[in-house]
Amino acid sequence: MSDTVQQIKEKLDLAVFLKPYLQLVPAGKNFKARCPFHQEKSASFIVSPEKQVWHCFGCNTGGDILSFVMKYENIEFLEALKILAEKAGVDLQRFGNSDQKKFNILYDINQAAVKFFQEALRHAQGKQVMDYLIQRGLKPETISDFEIGFAPDSFDALLQYLIKSRFSTADIERAGLIFKSQRGNYIDRFRNRVMFPLRNAFGKVVGFTGRILPGAAPQGGASLAQDGRETPKYVNSPETQIFNKSKILFGFDKTKSAIRDSKSAVLVEGQMDLIMAWQDGIQNIIATSGTALTVDHLKAIRRIADNLIVAFDQDEAGQAATEKAIDMADAMDFSTKVMMLKPELANQNLKDPADIAKAHPGALAVMLQESQPSMIYYFSRYLSKPKIAKQDLRAVLVKIKNIYSPVEKSKWLKELANKTKVDEKSLIEEMEVLQDSGPSGVAEENNSPQAQSLPRKDLLSQRIISLVVARKDLFSAKGGSASGGKIEEVSSTLTPAYQKVLSYLNGEVGVELPAQHKTVADLLSLRVSVDASTDEEKIRDEAKELLRQLQLENYKDQRLILKSAIEQAENAGDEIKLAVALSEFDKISKQIQTLNNQAKT
Ligand code: GTP
Ligand code: MN
Repeated sequence: MSDTVQQIKEKLDLAVFLKPYLQLVPAGKNFKARCPFHQEKSASFIVSPEKQVWHCFGCNTGGDILSFVMKYENIEFLEALKILAEKAGVDLQRFGNSDQKKFNILYDINQAAVKFFQEALRHAQGKQVMDYLIQRGLKPETISDFEIGFAPDSFDALLQYLIKSRFSTADIERAGLIFKSQRGNYIDRFRNRVMFPLRNAFGKVVGFTGRILPGAAPQGGASLAQDGRETPKYVNSPETQIFNKSKILFGFDKTKSAIRDSKSAVLVEGQMDLIMAWQDGIQNIIATSGTALTVDHLKAIRRIADNLIVAFDQDEAGQAATEKAIDMADAMDFSTKVMMLKPELANQNLKDPADIAKAHPGALAVMLQESQPSMIYYFSRYLSKPKIAKQDLRAVLVKIKNIYSPVEKSKWLKELANKTKVDEKSLIEEMEVLQDSGPSGVAEENNSPQAQSLPRKDLLSQRIISLVVARKDLFSAKGGSASGGKIEEVSSTLTPAYQKVLSYLNGEVGVELPAQHKTVADLLSLRVSVDASTDEEKIRDEAKELLRQLQLENYKDQRLILKSAIEQAENAGDEIKLAVALSEFDKISKQIQTLNNQAKT
């Protein structure tokens, strides 16, 4: 396997591969870009064509082409390998790796099932289904664009077909298309349903969702089967090696380029909503399709879009889901809007985008144009009563608190102050003590993009080493006088380990680094090449400030140590030790004071 990986990697150039994903800017012999894995304003994502690695100094992640694809596309190793192999023109089958084969077979089975379901739509039983689809407003070309099909009313029609196509029962079960019944025989999971293939971002079918037929269910949803168990309106494939529900967005394979171009995505609940809207000319759209919206879903969109328009169903469930989606999106620095139903359509019993698209072609586009910022939606949801209740005001404050961007936050606080006539300062005070609403995990993960980064002292040390190595001339005895310090001064501020890294990168002979520090040094050399092209003034200023901050951190650490020394001396009644520690403490505190003052000037 590792041979295969090697071969694939040799055929692909990382920088060339990354071009469609990122805005790469040349920086010395490397490239830099804004990191796609965390929100940032300056570029700390560095690509080395020479080493064929990438690294982000902002969120401290990095790796090779494979790890990039896995992380960016939210996929597993084998899936990433498959994509890269196709790009590189390497035939994975030829390598006869059994893991990869077992994995590929799942795609093949799903693809064969698509053909089977499409065929079935053309046969006698399928006629009625076709009529139903047309009656829902779908055009024949849309039905074939989305490869909609029909699972016949039979226990094992698909199973028989797939076995004839030489797939094994075990593999078909692994693909989630059959399951063992209580009687112990295998039966098709999807029976007598309209079938919608679910595709990953690359257009490969990874599973299905099947809708019950109108005759088989009473109006409006789930029905009771003969055995008294509820029959759900929609059934999905189970999760498999290739189908991870929290990562698949319905339609994304077809719509991602329109989303990228417009930097904006429309989010709907159901696949019928998506398909009908698509047919009505809305191309930058995705659907969660029966699974809860996850952070992973939104991350995939966030990488290519800044704006999200939530267009969920008009019922209470839809509105509750809207609120969740907004909160997640606002915490991820989306500019989030909500599509609201036009008043003249409100009493026509149009409950979702699919209904609207069918009844009033063209209306969706207008409504999307007129969609309102999420906070306006919240204002109207919580603050439209004549007298505003405290808990409603708090509900809105929590929403504002959850917004990622400080600028947006302050904008909406002003709006809220205007609307409620409560002064802004009180609103801020109230907001600060409120609990975050953020759907679990989101706020934490996204409000602090630095969450997974290195300790502050490491960040400062690495940054400063990079500057010094990049422009040795500015830090030498001659150039150093007016700059952020001489090499010796910088070095003395660093820990011994970082001192060694600095010497090593400066090319001093005979410096041996332990493996762990060698890795740090290698990564830093990427950064050095970027800093080398930064202008002199900027380097001087930055070095000066970094050095100040690093010294400050060092003093603070020393003061902490002294503090416990003082306590110990006090407890032990050791007057001499106490006096020494106190005077040291005093000295350090003054140094801290001085450094703090420097920041203000
Ligand atoms: P249509 O009646 O076909 O237009 O469906 P809809 O899209 O209007 O369905 P609804 O608004 O009831 O639900 C929104 C989405 O949730 C659907 O498109 C499905 O993807 C999903 N969903 C609905 N019912 C079920 C169910 O019983 N089970 C599962 N797993 N998903 C469902
Ligand atoms: Mn609906």
